[in-house]
Amino acid sequence: MTATICGTGSHIPSYTMDNHDIAKLVDTSDEWVRERTGIVRRHIIQKETTVSMAAEAGRKALKDAGISPEEVDLILVSTISSNLILPCAACEVQKELGAVNATCFDLSAACTGFVLAYNTAMAYITGGLCRTALIIGSESLSNLTNWKDRGTCILFGDGAGAAVLQAKTSPRGASQEEGEKLEAYLPVTHSDGSRGAALTCKSRHDFNGLTDENRQSNAETLLDASHYMQMDGQAVFKFAVKSVPEVIGEALRLNKLRASDISYYILHQANQRIVEAVAKRLGEPIEKFPMNLSEYGNTSSASIPILLDEMNREGRLKAGQKIVLAGFGAGLTWGAAIVPWCR
Ligand code: COA
Repeated sequence: MTATICGTGSHIPSYTMDNHDIAKLVDTSDEWVRERTGIVRRHIIQKETTVSMAAEAGRKALKDAGISPEEVDLILVSTISSNLILPCAACEVQKELGAVNATCFDLSAACTGFVLAYNTAMAYITGGLCRTALIIGSESLSNLTNWKDRGTCILFGDGAGAAVLQAKTSPRGASQEEGEKLEAYLPVTHSDGSRGAALTCKSRHDFNGLTDENRQSNAETLLDASHYMQMDGQAVFKFAVKSVPEVIGEALRLNKLRASDISYYILHQANQRIVEAVAKRLGEPIEKFPMNLSEYGNTSSASIPILLDEMNREGRLKAGQKIVLAGFGAGLTWGAAIVPWCR
């Protein structure tokens, strides 16, 4: 048994900030940001929240799949920027959509989060724990962005993307070849906590024990730079251009596939130069590496499902294609999953 993606959706806030807007806040320029990152603008929440965007993306994915909310028995939301600690964002999505039969939980693994949500849903389905999963990446990174730090505030944006996965069994009497087509591919994922300092953000709550002093600082919510995303940009860049092609190579070898068997590599959208470097190291044409980061910037765990949804709606994905999803980011975490497109 395996599972296939049978619907996608996304929600993008309508308000945008382009590089010229950012240049009014910090010492930077449109030219510098375009050249170093490929980013032109990013969409930023006004009234939306991580939860409301997740619900909207999920609603659209279910509609695209033609599946009723009651059929969903697992909802996973990948996020590092939920507006809620309790309840989890996935339970809020359940409530919004009326997915009354779903088990719901959140997953936190930054920009690798959507790949891990996909793997988790696949494991639940192939393990017989559920049949239909709604997986969502939703982020309001504008809330975690230090708008005085030009090293980071140029990079990030807000948005949400979603996909529906459903169990698929070989039809009775299917040939061996048809059965093999439905086989699940094994993903490869890695983590290296010893390099976590490259990209950090402290909780806004003080978890250092309940002293009078801490109680006071909690009450005043004294935020400093460490409560916003802090990054060693060059370290993250070097990690990405080395680790991403390596993990894609591992996933291809594990599943006895060649790079040329893959129709599209849907990478986490962090930086155009990272995507180009990965394509070069894999020796694959850049046309196989779709990008939309010029429009949205880095939306962490939402970037892969937003791009997947755009490609699905543009009709670029065809039954029989194999697609690689590859994420990388804080943790450090990174991983690649091979997705058979069966719609
Ligand atoms: N505008 C103008 N100048 C800037 C700038 C900005 N927004 N940010 C940094 N600079 C300056 C630096 O101060 C430095 O100046 P100096 O040479 O006088 O010291 C110079 O530009 C080069 O800085 P550097 O950090 O080496 O730039 P870079 O080429 O590495 O680009 C990033 C910076 C952040 C764009 C790049 O490192 C990057 O994209 N890293 C990966 C980040 C990422 O993807 N993170 C998320 C992963 S999930």
